Amino acid sequence: MNQDVTVSMKVNGTEVSRTVEARTLLVQLLRDELALTGTKIGCDTSTCGACTVLVDGRSAKSCTLLAAQVGGAEVTTIEGLAEERGERLHALQEAFHRDHALQCGYCTPGMIMAACSLLDELGDQPTDEEVRAGLKGNLCRCTGYQHIVDAIQSTAATHGSEGPAGSVSTAAAGPGNAKGNGPAGARPGGAR
Ligand code: FES
Ligand code: FES
Repeated sequence: MNQDVTVSMKVNGTEVSRTVEARTLLVQLLRDELALTGTKIGCDTSTCGACTVLVDGRSAKSCTLLAAQVGGAEVTTIEGLAEERGERLHALQEAFHRDHALQCGYCTPGMIMAACSLLDELGDQPTDEEVRAGLKGNLCRCTGYQHIVDAIQSTAATHGSEGPAGSVSTAAAGPGNAKGNGPAGARPGGAR
């Protein structure tokens, strides 16, 4: 028997409320109810990280959370990073573009959201190894990862310990976090 629940949360700064089936995942709410299709679905095994968003500032795989679990929270998707109605890109978005950190782009929204959280955790001088370890829950089938690491490193170097301009505050990863479900020990460059 399906049961409907009414879920309210703040998404990209706007209060939203929807009545959905209790089994609705956060990623389904974002994509199907709110038309925020920048958040991708790349697997059904909680492995790829394409669905990564920020929940109360923490990177989270939105396919691993029920929408009802996120009631009252503040959710940020890739659409919420750019400022001025999308006219001014977030520093990480600029860096991914400038440093050729994407090819097909399917992993990119999740990768950027994970990187946003990661930079707040690691500060202004992370090592490549720390960046790779931090992104182990986000898979890319195209780039070979080095350009992704370069883009994140250049953002860290440019914006220092204050974090990338326009970043939302983040904290250590929590339930459903984007770091925990990837292949243990895999480096983002594992698909090279
Ligand atoms: Fe692959 Fe969420 S869709 S981890
Ligand atoms: Fe194609 Fe990453 S750019 S999957």
